[in-house]
Amino acid sequence: MSEVINALNWRYAVKQFNPEKKVSKEDLDTILAAVRLAPSAYGLQPLKILVVENPELRAELRSFSYNQPQVTDASHLLVLCTFNEITEATIEGMIEFTAEARGKSVSELSRFQEFLKGAILPMDREEMKRWNDHQVYIALGHLLQTCAHLRIDSTPMEGFQSLEFDRILGLTDKNLHSVVVCPIGYRSDEDAYQHISKARRSLDDLVEFIS
Ligand SMILES: Cc1cc2nc3c(=O)[nH]c(=O)nc-3n(C[C@H](O)[C@H](O)[C@H](O)COP(=O)(O)O)c2cc1C
Repeated sequence: MSEVINALNWRYAVKQFNPEKKVSKEDLDTILAAVRLAPSAYGLQPLKILVVENPELRAELRSFSYNQPQVTDASHLLVLCTFNEITEATIEGMIEFTAEARGKSVSELSRFQEFLKGAILPMDREEMKRWNDHQVYIALGHLLQTCAHLRIDSTPMEGFQSLEFDRILGLTDKNLHSVVVCPIGYRSDEDAYQHISKARRSLDDLVEFIS
């Protein structure tokens, strides 16, 4: 079986991390670099990744995560956030760094900029929130897959109270809200879930070829 499938069979949603084992800075940098490379609609990247290291803060966050131990015991706690709102300034900023990355002037991208403003700014707040939240899950996919390749454990988690996380982490004032949480680290030998077989729908049921 290919290394990709081996890695994905190896990963599972860890319930119990080994609090003694830490992810190295080099591996953390690789994981964050992979998240940065995630695609996003129009390349807008409405994301912010918080790496929460402070133990007291993590204990507080755990109390708003149905007491799930991964929040405090994993090596690092990543909180994946998105913008509450995409503003004109967001679009202009993205055009600027895109122009710079591609050796163009901002004026050469002005038609694209106007197109984006016309497509995005009229969205109502709910629609924009839904749209932005989707971008976070693509980044989560990169995160989980990269961790698996590095044989670093991870747990995607929606079992937390996002409004409380936003309050504790001071996100609202920064035009951000939390969408999904992902502790990363190393599984504990005691975590019984590592021995449970993967339960997935068959490929025949999942996939349909239309020729
Ligand atoms: C968006 C999302 C939210 C999840 N939330 C939690 C969670 O809060 N706590 C938890 O222990 N597992 C959580 N999981 C893990 C799933 O239960 C798990 O991925 C699924 O049962 C498949 O098992 P496996 O990942 O071990 O193969 C979540 C998974 C996803 C994708």
